[in-house]
Amino acid sequence: MARYYLSQEKIEEIREAADIIDIISEYIPIKKRGKNFTGLCPFHSEKKPSFTVSPIKQLYHCFGCGASGNIITFVMNYESLSFIEAIEILAKKFGIKLDRKSAQGKDKIRQELLDVNDFAFEFFKKSLMQESGKMAITYLIKRGIDPATRGDFGIGYVPGGWDNLLKAAQKEGISKTILHSAGLLVKNEKGSFYDRFRNRIIFPFYNSIGKKIGFAGRTLEDEVPKYLNISETPLYKKRYTLYGLYQGKEEIRKTDKCLVVEGYMDLLTLYQAGFKNAVAISGTSLTDEQAKFIRKYTRNIYISFDADRSGKDATLRGISIFIKNGLVPFIITLIKGKDPDEIIRKEGREEFQRLIANAEHFVDFKMRFLLSKYDLKKTVEKTKVVKEIRRTLTQVKDLTERQMWLNKISKKLSVDESVLISGGKSAKNKEQFMPSILSLKEMCCDLITLLAMRPEKYEEVVGLFENDNLFDETTKSMMTYIEKKKKEQEKIDVADIIDLIESAEERKRVSATSFNINEENVLKMLNQYIRRIKSVKLKERWDAVKEEIQRKEGDSDAVRVLLQEQKRIAYTLKTLGGNFVKEKRV
Ligand code: UTP
Ligand code: MN
Repeated sequence: MARYYLSQEKIEEIREAADIIDIISEYIPIKKRGKNFTGLCPFHSEKKPSFTVSPIKQLYHCFGCGASGNIITFVMNYESLSFIEAIEILAKKFGIKLDRKSAQGKDKIRQELLDVNDFAFEFFKKSLMQESGKMAITYLIKRGIDPATRGDFGIGYVPGGWDNLLKAAQKEGISKTILHSAGLLVKNEKGSFYDRFRNRIIFPFYNSIGKKIGFAGRTLEDEVPKYLNISETPLYKKRYTLYGLYQGKEEIRKTDKCLVVEGYMDLLTLYQAGFKNAVAISGTSLTDEQAKFIRKYTRNIYISFDADRSGKDATLRGISIFIKNGLVPFIITLIKGKDPDEIIRKEGREEFQRLIANAEHFVDFKMRFLLSKYDLKKTVEKTKVVKEIRRTLTQVKDLTERQMWLNKISKKLSVDESVLISGGKSAKNKEQFMPSILSLKEMCCDLITLLAMRPEKYEEVVGLFENDNLFDETTKSMMTYIEKKKKEQEKIDVADIIDLIESAEERKRVSATSFNINEENVLKMLNQYIRRIKSVKLKERWDAVKEEIQRKEGDSDAVRVLLQEQKRIAYTLKTLGGNFVKEKRV
C-alpha cells in the first residue's frame, strides 16, 4: 500500500462513488444481458461481444482475451494511465478531494515533470504574444493557422537565445536538473545547460486526458532539423504519442472514423477545416501502440500520408500495422498536392471531403498497388499477385465481406475463387491467458481470492500459508486486507483487493478468478485448492527426503527414520486425494 500516497480508504471511497456500469458505458457501448452487461472488448479486436461487466461484483472480464479488473484498472488500461492518474480522473468525476502533496517514487517524478511542463507551456504561450513573438505570429498567419486553433493546441513560441526558458524557470525556483529531465534543456560537453528550443514555434504534446507530456518546435528559418522534439522522458514516449488525439478523440468516437496524417501542420489544417477526427503520427513510422490507442475510439482508419515516396512506403507499412491491430484501413491517395495541409489550403475543404469519400478499402488499394508493380500477362508475376492478394484477403475478418472481395478479385484476375483462399493456415492464437496447469504461486493467489469470498475459512488458510512459508508480497497484502476487514466486520470486496496488487498480471488473475467463479462452488473450490497446495508442498518434501536418503546411504538409522517419513507423506498424499494433475512448480 505504501507505494501510493492515497490511503486505502480513499481508493475505496472512489470505487464506492463510481459505478462500473456507468463508467464503462461512458467509454464503450454495453448492453444488459441477464445479470451482466456485455459489449465488444476494447482491449482486443473482436466481432462478437465477449467483454462482460458485472454490476454485482463491480468487475469486468473479457472471455476472449482475458482482460479483467475493476473500474480503476479499466480506466488505467483504456486510457493508458498510471494508477494515480486513473484515480485522479475518477476522483474528479465524483468530486472527491485528493491530497497530492506527498506523491512518492515514480509518481512523484511524473508529477514534478508535469509541473515543469505546465510552467514551460505557459512560458511558450506568453512568449508568442509578446513583442518578440511577432515574427512567429506572422508565420502562423501565413500558414493559415487562426487564433482559435492556436488556443486549442496550446501553440507557443520561444525567441532566439540560449537561456530564455532556463532563466524564466530559475526565477520560479525550478531546477536545471528537472528541466533537463523534462527534455527542455540540453547539456553540453562542459556540463552546462542550455535551452533545447531556440527561435522555434512550439507544439505541445498532450496525452489523452490533456496533460502536457512534451513539446516539439518548428524552425522559423530554414534550420535543420525542421522539427525538433524533446528527448524521451518518463512522460513522453514517442511510440505512444499521437499528435491531436486529445483534441480529436471525441470527434473520432462520434464519426467512428479517424483520419491519420503525417505532420503537425496537416493535423492543424484539417482540424481548422472542420475535420477534427484526426491524428498525426508526427514523422515516426506508425507503431503498434499508436494503432491500439486509436482503436479505443474507432476501428475505421483513413490514412492520408504525403504523396511522396516515403509517404507511400509509410502507407504500406501503416496498412499492415493497422490490420494487425484489428483496424480497417482505407487509403486516401493525394494527387493534386504533396500533403493534406497543401490540398486543403490550395483546393479547399470540399476537395478533401471528396477524397475521403473516395478513399480506397485496403484490399482495393493493395490490388491497385500489385497491378502497377506486376504484369499479369507473365505467369510468374501473376502468381505473385495471387499469393500477395490471398494474404491480404485473409485479413478481411468479416466473412461475408471477404466473400464479396473474393468474388471481385477472382473476376479481376480471372482465377477461380478457390485459388484465392489460403491453404487453411489460420493465424495461431498467440494470446493464451488461462494456463491449464497452475504454478504454486498462482494457486496461492487463487486461494486467497476465494478466501475473500468465504472469509470464515481465514484461520485455516492463514495457518496453511504460515506453516508452509507461502506468503509473498501480493498474498501478504491481500491477507492483511482480509484480516482487517474481518476484524472490523466489514464487507470484503474483491474489487478492492485488486488495488493492492502491484503486478498487472496478478491483478488480472484475481479479477478473473472472482469473475468466473460460481458462488455455489466457492467453498468446494476453496477446499480443493487447500488440498492441492498441501499436496504440492508434501511432494516437495517427499523429493527432499528422497535426496537426503541418498545422501545418508551409510547411516542406516537415519535412513530408517527418513523412510518412515516418506511413508507418512505418501499416506497423507493419498488421503488428500492424490490424483492431482502434475503441478508445475515455481
Ligand atoms: P514533413 O517534412 O512532411 O513536414 O514532415 P510537414 O508536416 O509538411 O511540415 P511543414 O508543412 O513544412 O511545416 C512530416 C512530419 O515529420 C516530422 C514532423 O512531425 C512533421 O510534421 N518531422 C519532420 C520531424 O519530426 N522532424 C523533421 O525534421 C521533419
Ligand atoms: Mn507540409
